[in-house]
Amino acid sequence: MKIKVNGKSRNVDASPDTPLLWVLRDELEMTGTKFGCGMALCGACTVWVNGQPTRSCITPVSAVGTASVTTIEGLQGRAASAVQMAWEKLDVVQCGYCQSGQVMAATALLMKNGKPTDADIDAAMSGNVCRCATYQRIRAAIHEAAKIMGGKA
Ligand code: FES
Ligand code: FES
Repeated sequence: MKIKVNGKSRNVDASPDTPLLWVLRDELEMTGTKFGCGMALCGACTVWVNGQPTRSCITPVSAVGTASVTTIEGLQGRAASAVQMAWEKLDVVQCGYCQSGQVMAATALLMKNGKPTDADIDAAMSGNVCRCATYQRIRAAIHEAAKIMGGKA
């Protein structure tokens, strides 16, 4: 089957029920997307499917169809740049394991909402677990990214 990842059509040789996460990591060698729980509970495996943050660990590759998949490797644009700058400025990352999922979720939020409140951030990010408890820095960095974007999604 073919799937579209980061703007490119890719041939995939996997059974239809293979989770998208393993197709990305093992077949397409995009290891930025991480395996945490495998049960949609931690957010480490978050990618976008047609721009929507999606848990790739529980998404069968056959469910992707003609949709566009975006991974951390293909993330670009205004919000993504602002998130990257803010993450670096506030030194958000500790071990880093959860962070590609955090960045995918944060960027999706800022593309919809250029000036999120703490409550908006908590609602958008509550499914992304960080064992290093970088939550305060993540929240501050999302506010910082919103500032970099001038409050406009
Ligand atoms: S690995 Fe997918 S949500 Fe945890
Ligand atoms: S930075 Fe270590 S799990 Fe989040």
